Amino acid sequence: MALAIRLAQRGIEKVSPNPPVGAVIVLRGQILGQGWHKKVGGPHAEVEAIRSAIRAGHQNKLKKADIYVSLEPCGHQGRTPPCSAAIIQESFRRVIYSVPDPNPETRGKGPRAMRKKGIEVISNFLRTEGEELLAPYLFFHREGRPWVLSKWAMSLDGKISTRTGDSKWISNERSRKFVQSLRRRVDAILVGTETYAKDDPLLLPRPPRGRFPLRVILDRQGRLSRKLQIFSDARGPRIYVTAKEASAARVRWMEQQGLEVWKLSAKEQRFNLGPLLKRLGKRGITQILVEGGAEIHGALLDRGLVNEVAAFIAPKIIGGEAAPSPVGGNGVLKMAQVHSLKSLNIKRFGEDVLVHGRL
Ligand SMILES: NC(=O)c1ccc[n+]([C@@H]2O[C@H](COP(=O)([O-])OP(=O)(O)OC[C@H]3O[C@@H](n4cnc5c(N)ncnc54)[C@H](OP(=O)(O)O)[C@@H]3O)[C@@H](O)[C@H]2O)c1
Repeated sequence: MALAIRLAQRGIEKVSPNPPVGAVIVLRGQILGQGWHKKVGGPHAEVEAIRSAIRAGHQNKLKKADIYVSLEPCGHQGRTPPCSAAIIQESFRRVIYSVPDPNPETRGKGPRAMRKKGIEVISNFLRTEGEELLAPYLFFHREGRPWVLSKWAMSLDGKISTRTGDSKWISNERSRKFVQSLRRRVDAILVGTETYAKDDPLLLPRPPRGRFPLRVILDRQGRLSRKLQIFSDARGPRIYVTAKEASAARVRWMEQQGLEVWKLSAKEQRFNLGPLLKRLGKRGITQILVEGGAEIHGALLDRGLVNEVAAFIAPKIIGGEAAPSPVGGNGVLKMAQVHSLKSLNIKRFGEDVLVHGRL
């Protein structure tokens, strides 16, 4: 099962909104086949593992074998046929899975179908490790809103730009390359209005290939310049979020550029990004990457809406009281209330350090 979980991790950058899943087929201690879900719309892990066993000439051994899967095998027809059907077809002896699938479309169906055909089914095996891997997927199905990953790059003295707003570049090229893998992992990307205004980012994964995340443009006052690159770059879906009273001409112009327009009430947007996240959840966004700036990170953290933080620290000193730090908003009053990162992963990218963890 530990191997199945490790295999699943290989798909993380390609499978969202599907969960990453791995599978290993074993007979008397020998691995006959293994596989993982490689991309959305492609075969699921169980099918990949069965195919690899067949390629290795083990098809006639499958009915005596066990299959370990990091997530409950699905029992519904989605973009691909149900995995439980593939397992039944090969008449495996036993199916051992880690995490029950919370998705109401499939929950319980696969195990029921397999048990009916006489296959022994064991669940909750290495469940803690499985849940760690699947945290964003499980969170999305439990809460109905996307898992939020907040990312920033700061100097050694905790600044995200100079006092004039210049922030290119604080982190080095290797750190920025890692950010591309975060962009590929998520379904959507968000930055604050001021970051669009000052940095004019495109927010596409570089090199721009594969799946493009949904780019969300917050502009409740309708103040962003129409000359921003994001408005003319139609690669991948974009949503323009503005207030109900936005001018009809601006809304029409956005639609002509191919953007979907969402009008939220100004009050809703000012006080809470929760309703926006809920709405993104309804659209099937399971994970969102927030790339700053300070005000948007602060607004999300103050509301307890952040699940994961990736903070790059560069050995550079910017200085200046007016230069912003990564998290604005109100912050906490007492040390007892601080947001503490867990499941910490500390990595080095050249001279930069990444502190990456979950809240
Ligand atoms: N080093 C880094 O990692 C990094 C990353 C990103 C940005 N930056 C730097 O950070 C600076 C910008 O940061 P910032 O803190 O000034 O601004 P920001 O967080 O990018 O944007 C703040 C703006 O977003 C809008 N906003 C705030 N809360 C909102 C809410 N709840 N709902 C909807 N809209 C909301 C407001 O604009 P309206 O009042 O118009 O609605 C607000 O002025 C830039 O200089 C940029 O270079 C650095």
